[in-house]
Amino acid sequence: MTAPTLINIPFKLERNPPPFEGNDIKYPEELVRHFLKLYTKKGDKILDPFTGLGTTLFVAEEMGRIPYGIEADEQKFEWSAGQLQHWQNVICGDSANIDRFALPRMDFCMTSPPYMPKHHKWNPLFAGDPKKAGYNTYLRRMKTIFQKIAQQMKKNSYVVVQADNLHGRTYTPLVRDLSLAIEPSLKLEDEIIVKWDNPKPDYPFTHCLVFKKV
Ligand SMILES: C[S@@+](CC[C@H](N)C(=O)[O-])C[C@H]1O[C@@H](n2cnc3c(N)ncnc32)[C@H](O)[C@@H]1O
Repeated sequence: MTAPTLINIPFKLERNPPPFEGNDIKYPEELVRHFLKLYTKKGDKILDPFTGLGTTLFVAEEMGRIPYGIEADEQKFEWSAGQLQHWQNVICGDSANIDRFALPRMDFCMTSPPYMPKHHKWNPLFAGDPKKAGYNTYLRRMKTIFQKIAQQMKKNSYVVVQADNLHGRTYTPLVRDLSLAIEPSLKLEDEIIVKWDNPKPDYPFTHCLVFKKV
């Protein structure tokens, strides 16, 4: 892989979802537009296996692509699906079960997985189930989920994963760790540093990892 690419995107959230917990974890619509313009065409099937507040799916539909999503949280699922014409393409469930949902093969995937600091026990992929606690369990589960996502993708399609390193009580190199968890299943083609125009004071940039299904 070559040196990271640098791009500039305005940090502007165009939709105002209701105040669910974790509402701030949403990327700007313009970030999705950037990658959809680059890697997709009208009619393509676009997947977000961690749909959250629906940003990938809304922009995909707005650009004439067909959105598909999976979201574990019932409230967020209901709200996001309810905003879409293709509401029937959104599933409330665990993306680790993607192979059971009879979805078609996808042309492109863009997502932002739930984040976990390495000193936390609470594993967001299992809604905090104490039997599944810990960062290593989280990373192993990510590996499984992306193995299955890779199987859902068409050959030569791209998967973009937005993530941040976490600066808290201890530093978590989440971007690197996610990359290592995903790389056995998808080929890492690029690491893009997205510098926000008009950023929030504590959030000047983010990372987008670009993988290819080979
Ligand atoms: C960072 S948010 C995604 C935000 C989204 N990119 C946006 O801009 O609106 C991650 C989402 O993954 C969901 N999630 C967590 N574990 C999941 C799982 N196992 N399967 C599917 N969704 C899951 C969380 O409920 C959360 O809404």
